[in-house]
Amino acid sequence: MKRRAFLAATAALSFTAQSSWAGSTKAKKPLRLLILGGTRFIGLHMAEYALARGHSLTFFNRGRTKTDRLPQIERILGDRNGQLEGLANRSWDAVIDNSGYVPRHVTLTGELLKARANRYLFVSSISAYASLATPNDEQSPVAPLEDPSTEAVDGSTYGPLKAACEVAAERSFGAARTIVLRPGLIVGPEDNTDRFTYWPARAARGGDMLAPGNPSDPIQVIDGRDLAMFAIHTLEQQLSGTFNVVSAPGQFTMGRLIDASIAAASTFGKPVQPAKPIWRSAEFLQQQNVAPWSDMPVWVPPVGDGAGFAATRTDRARRAGLTIRPLDSTARDTLAWHLQRPAKEQQELKAGLSADRETTVLAAKG
Ligand SMILES: NC(=O)c1ccc[n+]([C@@H]2O[C@H](COP(=O)([O-])OP(=O)(O)OC[C@H]3O[C@@H](n4cnc5c(N)ncnc54)[C@H](OP(=O)(O)O)[C@@H]3O)[C@@H](O)[C@H]2O)c1
Repeated sequence: MKRRAFLAATAALSFTAQSSWAGSTKAKKPLRLLILGGTRFIGLHMAEYALARGHSLTFFNRGRTKTDRLPQIERILGDRNGQLEGLANRSWDAVIDNSGYVPRHVTLTGELLKARANRYLFVSSISAYASLATPNDEQSPVAPLEDPSTEAVDGSTYGPLKAACEVAAERSFGAARTIVLRPGLIVGPEDNTDRFTYWPARAARGGDMLAPGNPSDPIQVIDGRDLAMFAIHTLEQQLSGTFNVVSAPGQFTMGRLIDASIAAASTFGKPVQPAKPIWRSAEFLQQQNVAPWSDMPVWVPPVGDGAGFAATRTDRARRAGLTIRPLDSTARDTLAWHLQRPAKEQQELKAGLSADRETTVLAAKG
């Protein structure tokens, strides 16, 4: 990275780190929180925000995910797959379950902790819904788990397993003491999936940039920091029930994401030639075998099975206090974070098109 760009990125990142929770007021009553997970992505954001609010924390995990962040937080080592001895004889005000993917694991912690914690917050997903063909609210049917004994988490079982985990959490803690959050795509600094990150990172390379569908195509995302704030808020307010947590339907579009990414790239003065979006239709992209979501991350064409994907209703969470930061802010902070990652991670994104493939697709005739 050129020195000027690096300095700008560093300045932006330290600005982000200092300002993220700067000015947060302390909660009226400090809580003792246990996070199952905690050492990655949304867990780190939740922990940092919780500390800013004056709460105390314990992380429970296997110790495999390495981070040098938050060394002051107590860590209990164990495994959700039955090694929970470290949690015995302890009590907390609330449990945040960020790492539950199979109902047996949720039942194990739910049963162990139901008499020793007041609330259980389970992080589920909008993938729990049975269909994404029409917009979902919290009352919409969830996906059935065809084989209730399965613990293999893959593209077809992830959503149904999450729905089963929700039931397991509520079975142990009861509806009045259970909070279920169903996030849409979680994005922003620390996101290890690279899906949102692809766009500001791509804009930072400049030049002709393949853009999918129409600028007006809807998208829905939630910045991990907004998710963190809402999660802690629900615990402080002793809420219960299920909340879709994502940007409001119609709030963001693919065009806004591209614009925000280009604006973020220009903040760092990086591209020699500013990125210029070249919009290609869903039909053209299909002909070129460019897949929505994986090759063109964040984007799902708003038709057919995906017509309701980016239209999830969020009224309940908004009434309860969910706030969504501007897309410009998420894109800028994501790029600042990305530009400080190790070179290999910057070069080998887990989502999106490679530069060569993008050039080929842009050159193709429709
Ligand atoms: N990313 C999205 O867009 C998205 C969207 C909707 C919902 N979600 C949900 O968001 C949640 C958080 O995802 P994330 O990416 O931040 O974290 P994650 O990858 O689900 O979990 C990572 C954390 O859990 C710990 N962990 C993993 N397996 C464990 C086990 N068997 N026993 C104990 N600890 C374990 C890890 O530490 P160790 O490795 O050290 O054990 C780490 O601290 C998930 O529940 C996911 O379903 C994500």
